[in-house]
Amino acid sequence: MSTPNKPGKNPGKTDPGQHTPANHVDDFSGIATTGHEWDGIQELNNPLPRWWLWTFYACIAFAAVYSVFYPAWPIGTSATPGLLGYSSRAEFAANMDSVQAGNQTVLRQIADTPVADIVADPELARFATAAGASAFKVNCTQCHGTGASGGPGYPNLNDDSWIWGGTIDAVYTTIAHGVRSPTDPDTRYNIMPNFGADELLDKASIKTVATYVASLSGLEGGVSTPEGATIFADNCAACHGENAKGVADLGGPDLTDALWLYEGSLPSIQAQIEKPRHGMMPAWSEKLDDATIKELAVYVHGLGGGQ
Ligand code: HEC
Ligand code: HEC
Repeated sequence: MSTPNKPGKNPGKTDPGQHTPANHVDDFSGIATTGHEWDGIQELNNPLPRWWLWTFYACIAFAAVYSVFYPAWPIGTSATPGLLGYSSRAEFAANMDSVQAGNQTVLRQIADTPVADIVADPELARFATAAGASAFKVNCTQCHGTGASGGPGYPNLNDDSWIWGGTIDAVYTTIAHGVRSPTDPDTRYNIMPNFGADELLDKASIKTVATYVASLSGLEGGVSTPEGATIFADNCAACHGENAKGVADLGGPDLTDALWLYEGSLPSIQAQIEKPRHGMMPAWSEKLDDATIKELAVYVHGLGGGQ
């Protein structure tokens, strides 16, 4: 697009209209010039290589053909559709469909496989763990915390201390039926006697046994006495075990580790004996499908010391 320079139209600009004879050859390089000259600087006639030109023409031809078959020219908010009717949006939707269809297969496999076999199958376990982690974020973090590390009254799920058992089947049952769920007849259920209010033990005995229990995990104020051990064996061992290591079938927590559902201190142990607190977890089989509960069980089981 060269504008012919008419004299007087571009004052101050150099006039490129100066022509040297067309067959003029540059003295220094020995190459012919185009005949254009600007302030004594001449343009050598170095044409583009053939291969470059043909590639360029091929690109133009390709673009012309492409724009006939594929979406190319913008019209308003869309574009010419092209004869093949291709759309990247449709391709994306098809890809998503095929991913979803793939997931359906795995999901059906998880639904049809006993949870213990899922753990044993690395492929299924990997999928279940990832899916369980995201289901956990949605359903469980409000009580068990984002890192599943729990809080007062809500057990830490990362450690290898399990109130209701740490085998994959036990974890699955706990999640499916909940703990002391009022609506599920198969829920995990056991409550500690009201030793204080129901006067099963007098104040002095409660103090003695609490002090004994505190000594088992080395808590401040804990003292191991034969009286304490006897009261424990008579009143507590049934649910917490003779060695106080817990009884998973009965939901009686281990009292010898430093992991506490409630605050681990002599006063809180005494309070638990006088007027016990009990945690409640909903039965998830009422809200989530079986495959999701299996995924959650695999995830939680894998977090800490699943047995
Ligand atoms: C409303 C609060 C709440 C929610 C939500 C909740 N839990 Fe619990 N969960 C509890 C309480 C409380 C306990 C302890 C019950 C007890 O005292 O024995 C518990 C116990 C458990 C246990 C048994 C731990 C052990 O040591 O045996 C598992 C496993 C568990 N929850 C998994 C889950 C999963 C998975 C979810 C999400 C689907 C979930 N929980 C959601 C409150 C909750
Ligand atoms: C009938 C069964 C049963 C008996 C008997 C029993 N407990 Fe418990 N105890 C439980 C259960 C179940 C829990 C868990 C409460 C919960 O899950 O919220 C518990 C919790 C506790 C806790 C709190 C543990 C923690 O991690 O914070 C202490 C402490 C405790 N018991 C001490 C005793 C002592 C001491 C005795 C005897 C005087 C006793 N228990 C007798 C069932 C029992």
